[in-house]
Amino acid sequence: MSIVLSSVTLSRGGSVLFQDLSLSLTERRIGLIGDNGSGKTSLLRLIAGLQVPERGTVEVCGRDRRLHRRELPGLVGLLFQNPEDQIIFPTVAEELSFSLTAIGVDRRTAKERALGFLASEGLAPWSERAVSALSQGQRQRLCLMALEIAGPRVLLLDEPFASLDLPTQAALRNRLASADRQILLSTHQLAWLGDFERVIWLESGRVRQDGAGAAVCAAYSADVAGRSAPAQPVS
Ligand SMILES: Nc1ncnc2c1ncn2[C@@H]1O[C@H](COP(=O)(O)OP(=O)(O)O)[C@@H](O)[C@H]1O
Ligand SMILES: [Mg+2]
Repeated sequence: MSIVLSSVTLSRGGSVLFQDLSLSLTERRIGLIGDNGSGKTSLLRLIAGLQVPERGTVEVCGRDRRLHRRELPGLVGLLFQNPEDQIIFPTVAEELSFSLTAIGVDRRTAKERALGFLASEGLAPWSERAVSALSQGQRQRLCLMALEIAGPRVLLLDEPFASLDLPTQAALRNRLASADRQILLSTHQLAWLGDFERVIWLESGRVRQDGAGAAVCAAYSADVAGRSAPAQPVS
């Protein structure tokens, strides 16, 4: 399990975001933190192959993204920040089946496996449900299942906790802790990252700090607190 970015340059919105960025991501659990606009989503999109660097290379499990686009869904899955950006089909079973047909499984087998997967999750009654009738948290769960059913080696999650209630957050956290795949997760909820082996703090497209979760989160919190402290009156 490894993601390697070598001297990556990427512009977004007409200005350079990442310049000569190199990262080797081999830990099982990696957090991404930083202010809005620091580049968390762009980094995840690069790794998922949705963004192509102007210079440099991005390799996932030894494969260059540009040369192996068709292997993408089996290798890496990206949970979008907003479920509406990910869901395509009207019903739960169709959405899950599509994850499998996209990697070459025939339609009948895909449907059978989708129903089996739902049953194994204790969600058999969801199969014919309309996606439009699911709550936001349930849609996010569907999106995650749609990724997991394809069995990617790497799971990228972009602020997955943002719209979830506390019990659903806790369930997601347990799920991630036991998942047998590499996970790269961006979030503003630093409490979830304290026990992560590695957290990367991005600032304006650059790595400001990179290390053990507890230390990097503490440094970022201190920086934010310092920025928002009221100005001292001049005596
Ligand atoms: N679709 C887009 N078009 C143009 N610029 C974008 C787009 N998405 C993000 N950007 C720019 O890229 C930079 C990084 O954004 P992003 O990766 O979304 O950061 P984060 O996820 O940390 O909030 C920001 O300056 C943002 O304005
Ligand atoms: Mg983002």
